Amino acid sequence: MIGFIRKKWRQICVLLAALCIGTIVGGCHIIPISDSSSKKGVSSIIGVSQANMREEWRMALIDELKAETEKNDDIQIITADATGIVNKQIQDIDNLIGYGIDLLIISPCNEKKLQDKIKEVYDSGIPVIVMDRAVEGFDYTIYIGPDNEVIGQQAGTYIAELLGENGGNVVVLSSRPTSIQGAERLSGFRSAIYEAGGINLTELSLVAETKDAAYDTVLAAKGIVKNSDVIFAYSDNMALGVCDAVRELGLEDQVKVVDCDGFKGEDEGIDLVSEGRLKATVSCPIGGKEAIDYALSILNHESGVPKQVILRSNVIVKENVAENLARINAKSNDDGRKIKVGYSQVGQESNWRLANTKSIEESAADFNIDLHMENADQSQEKQFEAIRSFIKEGVDVIVVSPVVETGWDEVLREVKAAGIPVIMSDRNVRLENNEENLTTTYLGADFMEEGRRAMRWIRDNIQSDDHEMKIMEIMGNEGASPTEERGKGFREILAENTSYNITYSDYGDFTFEGGKKVVREYLKRHEWDIDIIFSHNDDMALGAIEELKKNGIKPDEDVKIVSVDATIEAFEAMVRGELSCAVECNPIIGPQLMKAVRDLISGKQMPFRIITDEKIYDQSVAEDYISKRRY
Ligand code: AHR
Repeated sequence: MIGFIRKKWRQICVLLAALCIGTIVGGCHIIPISDSSSKKGVSSIIGVSQANMREEWRMALIDELKAETEKNDDIQIITADATGIVNKQIQDIDNLIGYGIDLLIISPCNEKKLQDKIKEVYDSGIPVIVMDRAVEGFDYTIYIGPDNEVIGQQAGTYIAELLGENGGNVVVLSSRPTSIQGAERLSGFRSAIYEAGGINLTELSLVAETKDAAYDTVLAAKGIVKNSDVIFAYSDNMALGVCDAVRELGLEDQVKVVDCDGFKGEDEGIDLVSEGRLKATVSCPIGGKEAIDYALSILNHESGVPKQVILRSNVIVKENVAENLARINAKSNDDGRKIKVGYSQVGQESNWRLANTKSIEESAADFNIDLHMENADQSQEKQFEAIRSFIKEGVDVIVVSPVVETGWDEVLREVKAAGIPVIMSDRNVRLENNEENLTTTYLGADFMEEGRRAMRWIRDNIQSDDHEMKIMEIMGNEGASPTEERGKGFREILAENTSYNITYSDYGDFTFEGGKKVVREYLKRHEWDIDIIFSHNDDMALGAIEELKKNGIKPDEDVKIVSVDATIEAFEAMVRGELSCAVECNPIIGPQLMKAVRDLISGKQMPFRIITDEKIYDQSVAEDYISKRRY
């Protein structure tokens, strides 16, 4: 009965909101984007808090959310426009909650200032989907967004390839972008152009990120434009202005225009590419489709919802417009059939790996997946053998957790030739020439962020006024993505804190014995003078602790130890007062992986990266969490 009254009340509220088009309701400009009255028996209401409705892609997001919602009779959405003002967005969220929403989708206008509000909603039990700008920490249900830095890089790399070895003159419409997306795209673009070398880059200042400003700027700089080969604009809007100006100058045959966004519709990126006015557009996926898809999974309490989904962007040129449109418009369909998956697992080097294997094996059955897993004992050769045997077997999907990052190009090309899609799980590969389409997506942790978190914890918790803090780094195996990226992330924060220094670094191969060996070797040549150990995983940290104790060095007292993984053994060591802090790397990725496999087979476009949920724990909270640890 109470549920019925609540549902009715909410429907009345949504109806009221629907009547308020163009009016102010409690300080909140509510724009209903589906006609609630046309949907009978709606069981869930999704509130959408949009940062502003000025920017083109934000309007595109609203359209996409609307289109996706209309396909589903169970859901209704109401939208609020924060007009770029933080306090208004906070008020909008309160109003949406007042309407009784079941889930909030928010694209924050300022991710830092809205972080606490998002956490408050999440903690109150309302699931929150954060879009476009990720807030720090993990106090939300899922983040969905593009990687604008990568989008800019893709544009830069494309232009460098277009110009070839001789390089050329490129004009970029820059100035100081007011949108964060613009700033990130420009930064990615510049880095790709500088890396390619041989390109003469001229930056033209824009007064605004609009079509008219782009048009005026290009016309005003016609001397420069006449000597250029390519003009880069970071949005469809600006690109249209550039195209018009180039036409006006009679330079259409000489100057090529490249942009980012790749929206559908008249005079948008894809349209301009089809007409030959734009040479290429790098698509910026909007994410509305994915947001509604995940909202439904969350509302239906399905398993396999990851923490972050980084959407895929594609370089669209005239030759592949049809293919891209087909992909964008594709309807996914999961017929529920059993899917055959070949999984090449790294080995059994750590407790983390054992928990990871267990999670994958256990989830397969739940998702009707016939899993064939091969353990490679840390050997890339064995992984090649396993992958080739999966090809022979004719599996539907191959999943690889690679022991090292490089050397995969040849075997992955063989898999591609066999028409089998590949998902990278837990660890990623680095391909020569960034060859596209050899893998579909990466699912796992954000290793860079783990490294950053470890160093941030050190910075905030271990200080010394009188001397430089010496850090020993115990790395995983050489060439593995967690080794490379944790090291990079850690150094990124370290560079901002000059009183800490890595004075010794060695590989411990992610094993207990490896951790022991690193400390033993150090002690052979040095008096113990290390203040902090940063270990790339728990097993090595525990090995190091054993070796320290054997040599009369007290862990946590004589040396602080921070490691990555946060397994139950690490919690026990924190409770014993030996390990200082553990940064989580979540091995329980089975459900997310199996969901990704089903999505892939059902025809959904795979994101770039699917990131799992991770936290950080130290001795002050270890006792509270130890009984809840699942691995
Ligand atoms: O790839 C994940 C890493 O591999 C884990 O941190 C480590 O314990 C494992 O062996």
